[in-house]
Amino acid sequence: SLFGEEFEDRPETLAAIDKAIHACRKCPIGSLENEAVMGEGPDDAALMIVGEQPGDQEDLAGKPFVGPAGQVLDAALAVAGIEREQTYVTNAVKHFKYTQRGKRRLHQSPTAKEIDVCRWWHEAERAIVKPKVVLALGASAARAMLGKTVSISKVRGEPMPLDDGSELWVTAHPSYLLRLDGDAKAEQERLFAADLAAVKERLSQLV
Ligand code: URA
Repeated sequence: SLFGEEFEDRPETLAAIDKAIHACRKCPIGSLENEAVMGEGPDDAALMIVGEQPGDQEDLAGKPFVGPAGQVLDAALAVAGIEREQTYVTNAVKHFKYTQRGKRRLHQSPTAKEIDVCRWWHEAERAIVKPKVVLALGASAARAMLGKTVSISKVRGEPMPLDDGSELWVTAHPSYLLRLDGDAKAEQERLFAADLAAVKERLSQLV
């Protein structure tokens, strides 16, 4: 099966992961017309931010969070006083999953199975970077880190221990904020900002 193959030895450098993800066909997403997008940032960052998967613009640029969601993230990080340049930013799923509509490629959510198969790669990244804090953006990233599906509203604001001694914080995905408007948008922006402020506070205790 596409999912059942044995994995090779875990790559031990970020460059080796970058190379390996480009060749990865362990789920069907890798066989679409796309390029794998590697995480970006220092290999000793204290904070690792995990998104869902590259979008259209990330796929074209080969970098995570450079499109509309990335702009929301960048603005919120700036307000929280978290420097993106000192953060390792990556995704739960390494390839862009989409359906073609004319010339446009429309985002499709990865399945739980696809997220679980792709765990191999962000776990390899985490084993190298060894962040103190991991911030998962949205339900796919939370599932990627926890191996089970959780409700963002239930788990946000409270760190959870990960197996390597780091702690996991969960917040909404910035794309979710982009889909809202009015009072609901204002409320979710407030919660997102509060989560980032809490992460910043926690980092200043740990680093
Ligand atoms: N959304 C994500 O989850 N990751 C990206 O890199 C871009 C958009």
